Amino acid sequence: MKPQELLLDLVNVPAVNLLLNQLRTRCMTEYGHSYGVFQLGFLMGREAGFDNSEQYLLGMAGLLHDIGKVEISDITNKSGDLTDDEMDVVRTHPKRSYDLIKKWDLPEEVAWMAVAHHEFGRNRYPRDSYNGNGHDYSGAERRHGSSFTFEGAQVLCACDIFDALATQRSYKKPLEIDAAKDRFARDFVGNEIIRDALLRIEDLPVLYGK
Ligand SMILES: [Fe+2]
Ligand SMILES: [Fe+2]
Repeated sequence: MKPQELLLDLVNVPAVNLLLNQLRTRCMTEYGHSYGVFQLGFLMGREAGFDNSEQYLLGMAGLLHDIGKVEISDITNKSGDLTDDEMDVVRTHPKRSYDLIKKWDLPEEVAWMAVAHHEFGRNRYPRDSYNGNGHDYSGAERRHGSSFTFEGAQVLCACDIFDALATQRSYKKPLEIDAAKDRFARDFVGNEIIRDALLRIEDLPVLYGK
């Protein structure tokens, strides 16, 4: 399967299309970032040996992981420094993504990967519990009884961190590829195999227009 074919399949799901259009309208930076995470996730999933249905779920999670930001776009679109209170609101976005994905009856695995997409970074959040069991993901792993969503969430987190470093955001300029790789290697605290797989992707310069 090619990434273009998977993307077409995903945007043909009406709820995915609708949510992506909301993201495009309200959070243009996140819209581009979501596509970047989708692209990296596809390469990482292929490397990890994910089958087509797993690639589909990871791809949807890549597109929708930050969808919760549509509800707080007045804060996430601000260009200056955020206050502590505003940062607290920003940290609610994985849970908001989870709720929106569930509200639209999209696959539960997608919701679990989305809610955990900041759990494997150095500054991981939420630090408090969404389900009363510490980090959200401990609950997700038990719930599914399989390693796919756990591995998928780490892949998603790795792609999220790298894409954020390598692209322009309202608060920073894009890093060059080598600098982004160095920062990523420090900031990603998940599985080392996943970390190294991202660092080995040969197409990073092409993906980031270098
Ligand atoms: Fe996020
Ligand atoms: Fe993200």
